[in-house]
Amino acid sequence: MTRPTAVVVMGVSGSGKTTVAVDVARRLGWEFTEGDDHHPTANVEKMRAGTPLDDADREPWLRALAAWIAEREQAGTSCVLTCSALKRSYRDLLRRGNTSVFFTHVDVPEAVLTERVTSRTGHYMPPSLLTSQLATLEPLQDDEAGITVPGTGDAEEVVGSILAALSRDRGVTAPPPPPS
Ligand SMILES: Nc1ncnc2c1ncn2[C@@H]1O[C@H](COP(=O)(O)OP(=O)(O)OP(=O)(O)O)[C@@H](O)[C@H]1O
Ligand SMILES: [Mg+2]
Repeated sequence: MTRPTAVVVMGVSGSGKTTVAVDVARRLGWEFTEGDDHHPTANVEKMRAGTPLDDADREPWLRALAAWIAEREQAGTSCVLTCSALKRSYRDLLRRGNTSVFFTHVDVPEAVLTERVTSRTGHYMPPSLLTSQLATLEPLQDDEAGITVPGTGDAEEVVGSILAALSRDRGVTAPPPPPS
């Protein structure tokens, strides 16, 4: 049996995390969870009131995600989750005690992000949030398990890049996609 892998699809808002992560999970037959669904109630209320979260708010959330990953790791199963994980310190919390974590950073230039975010319906985001997210983003460092993939191609291409990296770095092979 191969060791479990927890793929954390990271990147700024609008980079395509959810779109890509859902498909990676489907292709591999792995459990998926949306990182944002694990915020404690206090954070949800704060966000609803339009107050930005600070790092102290994020800590219990990141710990909850790390616990979610740890449960799967201990059960020997692999999974996929989304989490913007913009700072190294956030990623350190997700990795703490978990050896299965593999980050995939979906890297999209600002101009492409702006276009996507403004054309997206049902998910309002002020352009200033994008600017602040890009300013906060700390790219993956050499000692962090994971890869950065270009996110400018269509979603299928991004999924293909992630699957190729998982095959190369984690020995994971996805079955061929069903004919469409
Ligand atoms: N590779 C892609 N090419 C073109 N459009 C894409 C691509 N990936 C995602 N999109 C579109 O861009 C928008 C943002 O994608 P998505 O919601 O997956 O991003 P996200 O990173 O999960 O954002 P958030 O952090 O706000 O949840 C959506 O309208 C989606 O359909
Ligand atoms: Mg998302």
